[in-house]
Amino acid sequence: MMKPHPERLESFFESLIPQPERHARWLNTVSMLEATGARKIWKSQGKDGLNEQILRHAVEESRHALFFKRAAQRVQPGSCEGYDDHELLEGRAARHYFQSLDYGIYERLLDAMPESKAKPLAYLYVTLAIEVRAQTLYPIYNKVLRRHRIPVTLRGIIEEEDQHLAEMIEGIDALDPDAAARRVEFEAFEMDLFEDFFIQLNAQAEAA
Ligand SMILES: [Fe+2]
Ligand SMILES: [Fe+2]
Repeated sequence: MMKPHPERLESFFESLIPQPERHARWLNTVSMLEATGARKIWKSQGKDGLNEQILRHAVEESRHALFFKRAAQRVQPGSCEGYDDHELLEGRAARHYFQSLDYGIYERLLDAMPESKAKPLAYLYVTLAIEVRAQTLYPIYNKVLRRHRIPVTLRGIIEEEDQHLAEMIEGIDALDPDAAARRVEFEAFEMDLFEDFFIQLNAQAEAA
């Protein structure tokens, strides 16, 4: 398994950021992923499950989606109206990454437990895997943005993602006696899926 090492991520951003048209599409792709996350949070809970933490999390992911959408339009004015494929950077691979993660984790949990337990845990584990990804990706991205003096700062978002991560770990530890083993399994699963996405992004960059 090849891991997207920090240096590979950094050099990806180094080549992306000086190209405003592609950079805007990347920002819009991140916006789309944040919006997908928000929608999945709303849908993951039964009508009685929307407590303060879930509502706040859904609102924050929605706000992240808006933040990245506005950033995309600042980097390339007049672009990235919606989430059409031509407005995204490897949009299909990005959607595939998220759907496969969501579906794969739920299926694996269903093999081990009834639906009533798998559903809430799937929300927690999918979110956990994404927050772990955000924790590597966003700080590196933010560093390269600073270096290029792009007026987009991810500091506030990084703080909120860190908070989400802590909450997911707490929820998982409370609900799943096999939390330690499953975290390792699902984080490795996410790593493979992200690597597939990242390979597409790099192939795209080389072709551009
Ligand atoms: Fe987010
Ligand atoms: Fe989050």
